[in-house]
Amino acid sequence: MYRVGIAGCGSITKFRHAPEYRQNPQAEIAGFYDYKTERANEMAETFGGKVYPTYEEMLNDPSIDAVSICTANAFHCRMTVQALKAGKHVLCEKPMALTKEETREMVDEAGKQNRILMIGHNQRLVSAHQMARKLIGQGELGKILTFRTTFCHAGPESWSADKSKSTWFFQKGAAGLGSLADLGIHKVDLIRWLLQSEVKEVTSALFTEDKRYEDGSLIEIDDNSISVLKMENGAVGSVTTGWTNYGEEDNSTVIYGTKGVMKIFSDPRYAVTIQKKDGTVVNYQMDAIQTNTSQTSSGVIDLFLESIGQGAALELSGEEAAKVMDVIFAMEQSAKEKRTVSLSQGDEK
Ligand SMILES: NC(=O)c1ccc[n+]([C@@H]2O[C@H](COP(=O)([O-])OP(=O)(O)OC[C@H]3O[C@@H](n4cnc5c(N)ncnc54)[C@H](O)[C@@H]3O)[C@@H](O)[C@H]2O)c1
Repeated sequence: MYRVGIAGCGSITKFRHAPEYRQNPQAEIAGFYDYKTERANEMAETFGGKVYPTYEEMLNDPSIDAVSICTANAFHCRMTVQALKAGKHVLCEKPMALTKEETREMVDEAGKQNRILMIGHNQRLVSAHQMARKLIGQGELGKILTFRTTFCHAGPESWSADKSKSTWFFQKGAAGLGSLADLGIHKVDLIRWLLQSEVKEVTSALFTEDKRYEDGSLIEIDDNSISVLKMENGAVGSVTTGWTNYGEEDNSTVIYGTKGVMKIFSDPRYAVTIQKKDGTVVNYQMDAIQTNTSQTSSGVIDLFLESIGQGAALELSGEEAAKVMDVIFAMEQSAKEKRTVSLSQGDEK
């Protein structure tokens, strides 16, 4: 049995971390911390456990084995390192941190303290994505030539506990990065993992099309992004993100290979479909992906608890997440400098 503390008591805690800890017999929720104490109170009333008045008091509780960090992005590194130093295992939400130095500091500290560090890259655990990876690995599509992957929804102000234009997600100081890091992190991680190939170079453009602060001015970070990725295995494809899709959430991926095409979450009836070059169509019916309006168990918490038991991150490790962040930082750099950026040993185009 592991006792866990949860820091940050907004939507991801309410819809994923707290309910998933509660339903896992290996976990007991010790308590909650949020600098808005009323949020921690609400979580403790709903899910049990106590309210810690400060983060330090949570970390000083010797009965706590592990913490979930579900705060605004800018605090992920500091709070993770603090928790690791206090001897706790850490499950931190994505994006892992705001700079390359921060991601390395987190990974190094986990190693130094011999504690588990995992990041909430839940898309790897979605059954359709696991099936897709297996089929691609078995060669069902032949050699992968191109892909396109997308994550677009109506924006974090419709999801965050602060349902307004003043959400931290729009503040550069608290969020650090925009839709590219918020949503693209999932898709960059997914595509590397599906194709089992690293990203070689990126060409990105960031846009702010529609999201505004209360005073009517456009937000300081991107609400849309479009990128071209070239993979080490030769495949090329696009990653698009958007906070301005006011229709149904789009979380789709299409992979084009020499033997056929795979569509994931493109057809409402089937999670995965394969159209072969000879005209054969194979449909796979599987669980839907979690969306902002339909939350099913992500499996991340179960995997974190299992990893603690095993003494190693079974998937979603801090090291893996740091590699994905490197791609995101290269995409940010590409957009800023309006050029292609290479990830191979520092050589740049
Ligand atoms: N894995 C996923 O698919 C997924 C989905 C949504 C959000 N997230 C991530 O989870 C994190 C939290 O997002 P959310 O949607 O729950 O946001 P939210 O706005 O709903 O809640 C954030 C909560 O954290 C609190 N908080 C912020 N900074 C704090 C600090 N320094 N100390 C204490 N409390 C603090 C706020 O008061 C708020 O209650 C973000 O990093 C976000 O990117 C991940």
